[in-house]
Amino acid sequence: MLTKAKKPHLPLGDHQTAPWYGKDILSVKQFNRADLEYIFGVAHEMRIMVERIGTFDLLKGKILANIFYEPSTRTASSFMAAMERLGGAVIPISEVKYSSVAKGESLPDTVRTLGCYADVIVLRHPEVGSAALAAQYAGKPVINAGDGVGEHPTQALLDTFTIREELGRLDNLTVTMLGDLKYGRTVHSLARLLTQFNGIRLNCVSPKILRMPRDVLDEVAEKGIPQKEHTLLDKVLPETDVLYVTRVQRERFEDAAVYEKVKNAFIITPDVMKAAKKEMIVMHPLPRITEISMDFDNDPRAAYFRQMEYGLYVRMALLAMVLGKA
Ligand code: NCD
Repeated sequence: MLTKAKKPHLPLGDHQTAPWYGKDILSVKQFNRADLEYIFGVAHEMRIMVERIGTFDLLKGKILANIFYEPSTRTASSFMAAMERLGGAVIPISEVKYSSVAKGESLPDTVRTLGCYADVIVLRHPEVGSAALAAQYAGKPVINAGDGVGEHPTQALLDTFTIREELGRLDNLTVTMLGDLKYGRTVHSLARLLTQFNGIRLNCVSPKILRMPRDVLDEVAEKGIPQKEHTLLDKVLPETDVLYVTRVQRERFEDAAVYEKVKNAFIITPDVMKAAKKEMIVMHPLPRITEISMDFDNDPRAAYFRQMEYGLYVRMALLAMVLGKA
């Protein structure tokens, strides 16, 4: 599902031959294995550059419009930090109540507007398909930073980059996704992206009412990935290489009483983790509420804070790519 490249208002130059120049990033379905290796390679270089010199001028003069219609700490600030570390500037629109959205402006008009001022748009919005809609109207590349319960492609990219940096491989892994697999968009994107790798086994562990959506399970099955659904963690924890924990997404529940029933369905503690391998990692897109006890944070297998840092490098790579500099 490669979208048409958008090239208006960007300076002419050799960089226009860069493969991702002017492209939207809307879904993980856009990426094949070679694309992923390319992104990870660029992200790895970004890591080295940040560790060596912190900030550099690759995107000097470029402007990012960072539009967030839903709360965010990590995604919004890591995109801002990514742009600034590359020498670019940011128009932050996270309090949409102070923008013309509060006057009733439509999403197409808002992104058309920001596309006039910025070179790239990052969008988080509560509706599935909103990023694709925005991409139709914006004259500049749109990066999906979460469209409701739909997808969160940049998170899945940083999640797979994390696995690669932490475990040294992305093939032959047992991945167990735990928690709210129904409303958690990060696992929808990650499950799809994992189908690009060889020898992946997927376990989906959730309360019955928070099962992974049928369409995601079907897509994963079509690619020949063995997967199993469970309501308890015990059976699959010992074989797990990557335990991907998610928050129960309170804001997506229609009935608060139902949320109360399932919110503490799983809690990862040092005691629970005694049954897991020594060489494995626990990930979480964050924010966490109660699903991972803070007592586990100092365990070397707790990779969720390192995961946030990998996110910076991946988002730097993506910005450089769509702006023709990688
Ligand atoms: C996730 C999100 O917004 O989908 N957070 C993030 O981007 N790191 C997960 C969540 O909110 O639970």
